[in-house]
Amino acid sequence: MGYLLGLDIGTSGVKGLLLSEEGEILLTKTENHPLSTPRSGWAEQNPEDWWDATRKCIGGLIDESGIDAADIRGISFSGQMHSSVFLDENMEVIRPAILWSDTRTSSQCQEIYNRAGGLEELISLVSNPALEGFTAPKILWLRENEAENFAKVSLVLLPKDYIRYKLTGEKHMDVSDGAGTLLMDVVKKDWSDALLDKLELSRDILPPLVESTAITGRVTEKAARETGLKAGTPVVAGGADNACGAVGSGIIKEGRVMVSIGTSGVVVAFSRKAVADQKGRIHLFNHSRPDSWYMMGVMLSAGMSFSWLKKSLFANEFDYDRLNEMASDVSPGSEGLIFLPYLYGERTPHADANARGVFFGISGKHEQKHFVRSVMEGVTYGLNDSLELIKEQGVEVNEIRAIGGGARSLVWQQIMADIFGQEISLLNVEEGPAFGAALIAGVGVGTYSNFEEAEEGIIKVVKTIPPRNENIDTYREYYSIYRNLYRSLKGDFADLARLE
Ligand code: XUL
Repeated sequence: MGYLLGLDIGTSGVKGLLLSEEGEILLTKTENHPLSTPRSGWAEQNPEDWWDATRKCIGGLIDESGIDAADIRGISFSGQMHSSVFLDENMEVIRPAILWSDTRTSSQCQEIYNRAGGLEELISLVSNPALEGFTAPKILWLRENEAENFAKVSLVLLPKDYIRYKLTGEKHMDVSDGAGTLLMDVVKKDWSDALLDKLELSRDILPPLVESTAITGRVTEKAARETGLKAGTPVVAGGADNACGAVGSGIIKEGRVMVSIGTSGVVVAFSRKAVADQKGRIHLFNHSRPDSWYMMGVMLSAGMSFSWLKKSLFANEFDYDRLNEMASDVSPGSEGLIFLPYLYGERTPHADANARGVFFGISGKHEQKHFVRSVMEGVTYGLNDSLELIKEQGVEVNEIRAIGGGARSLVWQQIMADIFGQEISLLNVEEGPAFGAALIAGVGVGTYSNFEEAEEGIIKVVKTIPPRNENIDTYREYYSIYRNLYRSLKGDFADLARLE
């Protein structure tokens, strides 16, 4: 029997997943790695820590499953997007990687707009706006703040591409991750010489681009000794964690959309066309399925808002089951209590680091249970903002697949169906990006002839939740107030930030 290995190089750890070629998940394993925050707003990791975690994870998977490493037919990756690994001419790491969640680059984002000639011009080159998390502003930050380190830079890779290099000695990046650098022409799938010129960056510091399903090398003898893998095992390019998450949830066809409530919230819609939002409110990135794209909205505090409520507001007095019961005891709209889920600012749709959380409409009748439900509703209104933007771009939304912690709550499932005004589907597998990476490995090495075959019989819808008509109208009215609240408060958020 043959196996496929998916590795997700995440922010908290490396998750590995062994999938049999028949589609059975044999074993998963996570090895954590540290995160350092040397200053407020900074987030860094040592790429060597990812490699240590990867080695342990692969070794553990092989030992614990008892499989013969020679039966692993292919390996592929998913990885945290945007996080920059700076390498010198000997492929040694120059400084800790600056992560996607690091917000030190606001002035470099402004510089990118200035050099590109404004938002519209930037979008015409790379289909996306300049956001602090993306890779290009991090490279400019290095140039401006650590000139000595910048002078040593010979190559910039993303986390999974660094692990690929450690496994194979090859230097590549796939287009789904290339898109998140803000240096790639998302439509042409090539580095944007026009933008690189404007930013005075050399194309030489970027690796060759390939499709996610391309074989990018084989495990070297050295890496085989360090991991327990068999030398010569094919390594497939893989993709950005959101693209792999989409593959792992079957978002590989037009009309399918994934809504994920994890710590952050993500809405990913498959698209056959590369159409960018001219206002840059929603991302357009390349999919791991060749010749397709996805539109993505990212909410910074989705599940995070709920865990904040549980821990900080209620001092862990109630467990999740009790919180769900409390929420189901309140009618839709939380009797006029509306929550804005911007605890750490917001990315989609506002791209505003100053935005903050708000409970609006508190009255004497409100009890703890109303706050629970209003947080669920506020997060869902935020996800609906992304869905609305996706629909505005002309992308079809026929089937909404809900995944992540929020999708396990019955009351939250119904809130989603009612606020989206559409049926919600739940899946049999929820292993996320590492699972998607294993399927990509399978397409890359030819276990599956294409993505449809890869998902067939493996990813199934097991439950659907229809919306309740009587709630759709109520929510429409509350949602309209929710949307107005940000507009009304935008200036106050900025004033507050000045005081902070
Ligand atoms: C996407 C993004 C995050 C990271 C998390 O743009 O910044 O979802 O990919 O790993």
